[in-house]
Amino acid sequence: MKTFLELARSRQSDRAYEPGKKIDPEVLNRILEAGRMAPSACNGQPWHFTVITEEPMLGEVAKATAGLGMNRFVKDASALVLVTQEPTNITSRLGSRIKNKNYPIMDIGVATAYMTLAAEDEGVGSCILGWFDEKKIKELVGIPKDRRLQLVLSLGYSTKAKHEKVRKEWDEVISFEKY
Ligand SMILES: Cc1cc2nc3c(=O)[nH]c(=O)nc-3n(C[C@H](O)[C@H](O)[C@H](O)COP(=O)(O)O)c2cc1C
Repeated sequence: MKTFLELARSRQSDRAYEPGKKIDPEVLNRILEAGRMAPSACNGQPWHFTVITEEPMLGEVAKATAGLGMNRFVKDASALVLVTQEPTNITSRLGSRIKNKNYPIMDIGVATAYMTLAAEDEGVGSCILGWFDEKKIKELVGIPKDRRLQLVLSLGYSTKAKHEKVRKEWDEVISFEKY
């Protein structure tokens, strides 16, 4: 079993999947449960996860994530998790306003990251997608007009070996005691 650090190091954005390979529903549910358990400002949990596993919707949503050469690989994903921003609670809203922060956006990023790591733990490849035709996907799956679809998470069984992590140097991003 991998330690958390090993999982964090081995998780990567997988952009090639075995076409047509299903993810066992129990595995998928555990990935979603990790997202549901994520922390959020004032425990507002301002998210809804719409899970797409079946054709033709899978193909149609995948198509709406592709454009300008981006996200063509999504067509082979086994599942897509659409992360919609929901209204948060009053305390988080007030906090956002007083402190001039967008807590719900942060919450959504955290929840989605949890799912990527849970996927890694299950041997499922993933890629967070921020580039997609939001309007089209909302229409396709019936997300209310007044909601924002903030992220899409593609899931599938990777066909490629792990690539080397590209990260800024430790000293560039981490300092102790002073900025
Ligand atoms: C908010 C967000 C949006 C992203 N959008 C896309 C995307 O639309 N398409 C894509 O291929 N990768 C996307 N990525 C993946 C990043 O490119 C990737 O995480 C980064 O290059 C680091 O590589 P790694 O995940 O393999 O470690 C996104 C990641 C995040 C966090």
